Amino acid sequence: MIQETQIRINGEKHSFRPGETILDVAGRAGVEIPTLCHDPRLKPAGACRTCLVEVEGQRKLLPACATPATTDMAVVSESERVDRHRKTLLALYATDHPSNREASERGAPDELLDMIENYRAPTDWGAMASVRANRHDDRNPYIHFEPDTCILCARCTRYCDEVEAVSAITLAGRGSETTISTVDGLSLLDTSCEMCGGCIDVCPTGAMGEKMPLTRGDKPERELEKVRSTCNFCGVGCQVDLNVDREADDGAGRIVKVTSPPTGTTTNDGNLCVKGRFAYDFVHHPDRLKVPLVRGADGEFYETSWEDALQKAAAGLQGVSERHGKNGLGFVSSSRCTVEENYLVQKLSRAVFGTNNVHQCAAT
Ligand code: SF4
Ligand code: SF4
Ligand code: FES
Repeated sequence: MIQETQIRINGEKHSFRPGETILDVAGRAGVEIPTLCHDPRLKPAGACRTCLVEVEGQRKLLPACATPATTDMAVVSESERVDRHRKTLLALYATDHPSNREASERGAPDELLDMIENYRAPTDWGAMASVRANRHDDRNPYIHFEPDTCILCARCTRYCDEVEAVSAITLAGRGSETTISTVDGLSLLDTSCEMCGGCIDVCPTGAMGEKMPLTRGDKPERELEKVRSTCNFCGVGCQVDLNVDREADDGAGRIVKVTSPPTGTTTNDGNLCVKGRFAYDFVHHPDRLKVPLVRGADGEFYETSWEDALQKAAAGLQGVSERHGKNGLGFVSSSRCTVEENYLVQKLSRAVFGTNNVHQCAAT
């Protein structure tokens, strides 16, 4: 007998594969179910309860992100009961979450505020004073944590644990004092944290945020344009989105943060290292070389044309080869070059100067 592997969502039949959750099937079928603690890179936690749906035969609403699809299951994702639940839940979240984006957002999008607006959840249930301890004095240069904005969805801690395998942050404390902390509340610099910034990327409320855009005095609510690029720090080729503030620097534009699209298909699936995410300052650095320089007889560097610089470099290499033989030369290329550029360097080394002394730090 062939096993029937279909469920019904809002009356429509959909096939599913073993191990898929209601949310997986709904996503494929284009049925929108709101989520906050869900991330396809992480194991389901069922922590935020925004994705609760009705399942026929079940007394309670069930979390779509953590409930496996089973044969002949009948799911309702939009009903008066589900809507009442969502509005109530979001209204409760709103009681201790800043409603003004400027205060709550530190460069990360605030999915919770978007959701409160989209589902027209009440925002007038009064504000609750937060009793969570904070680590405002954390001297790490990149990652800011705002305990009052956190909804304890544990996306950041699970990311740190399951994707980075670092476990630098954890849920700490009890009851209303539960918060995200480190061992003994230490600065992230004194933990195993690798400053990958992934906890900022996955946080749906802006509680984990970037320090850098704020310390530069920019407005955190500004519209940023994402420009897709490839990180040039090493040979892996991670896909990045350069977030450009077009209005900064009197309209010249400025990269104010780097994010990465978690598409599931790119080399890095939304994950970055500290260099790719935070070391973008060089792009606008005043000391960045923009013209070729050659050293004069007095030992100082002087601007020149590309043609002159290349001729001088060629003459210098030829001179070494003549004086010390072809293996007197060695070529070291950069992982910040493209594969094609590195190919040309090894061609230059082997075909033009006749030496195999060629290397590139990423060995691509
Ligand atoms: S920056 Fe990366 S390693 Fe550090 S706490 Fe965040 S997720 Fe963990
Ligand atoms: S800091 Fe953000 S990701 Fe981490 S638990 Fe709080 S709301 Fe969730
Ligand atoms: S997304 Fe399902 S419980 Fe949070």
